[in-house]
Amino acid sequence: MAEELIIENSASKAEKYNSLIPQIEALVTGEPDLVANLSNIASALKYGMGYFWVGFYLVKNDELVLGPFQGPIACTRIAKGRGVCGTSWAEGSTLIVPNVDEFPGHIACSGDSKSEIVLPAFKNGEVALILDVDSDELNDFDEVDKEHLEKLMGIIEGLL
Ligand code: SME
Repeated sequence: MAEELIIENSASKAEKYNSLIPQIEALVTGEPDLVANLSNIASALKYGMGYFWVGFYLVKNDELVLGPFQGPIACTRIAKGRGVCGTSWAEGSTLIVPNVDEFPGHIACSGDSKSEIVLPAFKNGEVALILDVDSDELNDFDEVDKEHLEKLMGIIEGLL
């Protein structure tokens, strides 16, 4: 297991993901515990990419329940179809929100969160968990994040 992440600060966002994702894959390889793996993935993304809040919500009894995360405390339960996370779950698709104030029903866990990207991971054809990445800057997520984070969700699906 790698003991620290190697990320070039001056690299482009795509270069950072290209460097980070294989390191994340190495970090989780051989560890069967999901909570341990999601915890390290949240930390690797938060500190590797410099985002404001990175965390997982797990589908439990028809609700999303807060899982491993890095950043300020967050709301613990989200109903299906509610907020960005509940909508991503209901639609089974990635959502990029350039300005959270313009997303109907956005759940504000922190007033400092300005934009976000939310991605689902599937098990047996059903959404099993959600990755939520928040930025304290407007319009911080684009197709580069979507492409690389969807690749990461594929790795996470292999852990489920
Ligand atoms: N903003 C999310 C809720 C989770 S927090 O941002 C950590 C939403 O609207 O679903």
